[in-house]
Amino acid sequence: MNFLCLFSIFISMPDIESNSIYNELLNKVNYYSGNDIKNISLKYLYQKFNLTNSDLILNKKLEWNSKVKRSFYDDLDKINNGVPIQYITNSQFFYDENFYVDNNVLIPRPETEELVSHIIKRERDNKKKNILDIGTGSGCIAITLYKHLNAHVFGIDLSKGAIKIANTNNRLVDNKVRFISESIEEYTPETKFDVIVSSPPYIYSEDKNKVESNVLNYEPHEALFVSKDPLYFYKKILKFSRRYLNQNGNIYFEINDKYESELELLFSELECKFIKDIYGKKRFLFVSIT
Ligand SMILES: C[S@@+](CC[C@H](N)C(=O)[O-])C[C@H]1O[C@@H](n2cnc3c(N)ncnc32)[C@H](O)[C@@H]1O
Repeated sequence: MNFLCLFSIFISMPDIESNSIYNELLNKVNYYSGNDIKNISLKYLYQKFNLTNSDLILNKKLEWNSKVKRSFYDDLDKINNGVPIQYITNSQFFYDENFYVDNNVLIPRPETEELVSHIIKRERDNKKKNILDIGTGSGCIAITLYKHLNAHVFGIDLSKGAIKIANTNNRLVDNKVRFISESIEEYTPETKFDVIVSSPPYIYSEDKNKVESNVLNYEPHEALFVSKDPLYFYKKILKFSRRYLNQNGNIYFEINDKYESELELLFSELECKFIKDIYGKKRFLFVSIT
């Protein structure tokens, strides 16, 4: 092929904007505005139809039968009612895997990926570990830690629906994580742990009105809100750790930065460190029990 021929292919190459389904979404998605429309539309097409950018650019034909068409328009209705795209496509990428999600579990968040990445860096060289993830939800933390640390990993959650989803995701690691349907208030393990990790519910129910409407309307409230005391789970987990964390063990928490000083006080007798997320907010708390 000569240079001129190559050049003519290049200049006549279509771009994403000429993809018909993408355009249909751009015209019909009305729940979002600005660039969010493009981002949501692309995310939907990637995840729902397993399309890549090149597929879209090259206008890859989908099998547009009546079933696909119906499901597309049903999804469009859901998008326009604010249902999170992850619950529509039943998937969320977390760290290095795609996790199955539905409205039984919190959609894994990027800051939780950051937490996991810190834990992997800090624990990579430690020998033989028992790790417990409290409030495991989709199992994203537990499964990722199993994949990257040579450890026995356990995940507990009060919600039976969440444990079912965590067990669905467990196939990513040949069902090697042990998920247990149990509340932290009742859990009496047969083993002690070297690492305890938790991203517990940490939005005080009085702050419900500050939460975005599609989170409030669709994500499970038992995963988001704490009603009695904003530090309730941190206190419970501290008490649990005094009994079930091995000496020289570490606790890793995701926190609400609003309660930094109260948390500092709660853990004041222990060695603890607040870590900022990529936006500069104190979002993680690491505690060592020596
Ligand atoms: C903020 S979500 C975190 C989910 C998951 N670890 C993640 O990071 O995506 C908190 C989780 O704690 C669970 N939970 C709430 N109360 C609990 C309790 N008393 N004992 C155990 N888990 C609980 C919820 O069901 C929810 O799955």
